[in-house]
Amino acid sequence: MPLTLRGVSHRYRGDLPWVVREVDIEIDDGESVALMGPSGSGKTTLLSILGLLTKPAEGEVLLDEASTGGRAASGLRTTQFSWVFQTANALSRRTALDNAALQLLARGVRPDLARRTALVELDRVGVGHLAPRPARLLSGGELQRVCIARALAAAPRWILADEPTGQLDHATTLEVSHALIEQRPIGTALIIATHDPDVAARCERTIRVVDGRVVAG
Ligand SMILES: Nc1ncnc2c1ncn2[C@@H]1O[C@H](COP(=O)(O)OP(=O)(O)OP(=O)(O)O)[C@@H](O)[C@H]1O
Ligand SMILES: [Mg+2]
Repeated sequence: MPLTLRGVSHRYRGDLPWVVREVDIEIDDGESVALMGPSGSGKTTLLSILGLLTKPAEGEVLLDEASTGGRAASGLRTTQFSWVFQTANALSRRTALDNAALQLLARGVRPDLARRTALVELDRVGVGHLAPRPARLLSGGELQRVCIARALAAAPRWILADEPTGQLDHATTLEVSHALIEQRPIGTALIIATHDPDVAARCERTIRVVDGRVVAG
C-alpha cells in the first residue's frame, strides 16, 4: 500500500507511557479515511506519524514500500502532504488569497500561477469573494475554509486534517467537510481525525482508535 504504518508504537519519552501501541495501518491513494476515538486515544499522534512529523519510537512508516526513516523525510513532508489543523493557522496580515497560495509559493510555483490556482480553490470552498481580505478580518469558519483551500490548491498526495471542524457550528461543519471530503482533487487521499459521526460517515472508511490501539478499520 502507498502509505503504511507497520508495527508502530510511540511514546513521547522513554519514561512516559506508550500512547500508540503496535499499530498497522494501510492507506491507498485517493482514499478518504476518518480517524475516530476518544480524547487522548492517540489520533493526533498517529496523524503526525503518518505525515512524517513524528518519528515513531518503534516500527516503520513506509511510502510506496520504501522506508521514510532517512533524510528524504523532510522533502517528502513538503511535497506530498498538506495539513489542516483544528485551529486555522494563517498569516494574519496576508490576504486570504496569499494564504491559500502559500504552500504552492513555498514549493517554488510562479506567484501568478500559484494565486490563480488558489483563487479557484477559494471559490470552490465558497470564499472566493474574500480573496483580497486580510486573514485577520475573517471569521473562524471563513479562515478554516481558506486553510482548506490552501491544502486543496497544493493538490498533495495526502491531506491530513486534525479535527478541522472542531470549532465550527453545524452548518459550517457540513460546508467545510464537504469541501474537504468531496471536493478534494482526484487521487488525493484524506485522513481526517474527527469526533463528528456525520463527518466520518462521509468518508469511505473509518479507523477507530482506543488507548493507542486500532480496534476497527
Ligand atoms: N508532546 C507530548 N508529550 C507528551 N505526551 C503527549 C504529547 N502529545 C500528546 N501526548 C499524550 O499522548 C496521548 C495521545 O494524545 P493525542 O493528542 O494523540 O490524542 P488525541 O486522540 O488526538 O486526543 P484529542 O481527541 O483530545 O485531540 C495523550 O495521553 C497525550 O496526553
Ligand atoms: Mg488530537
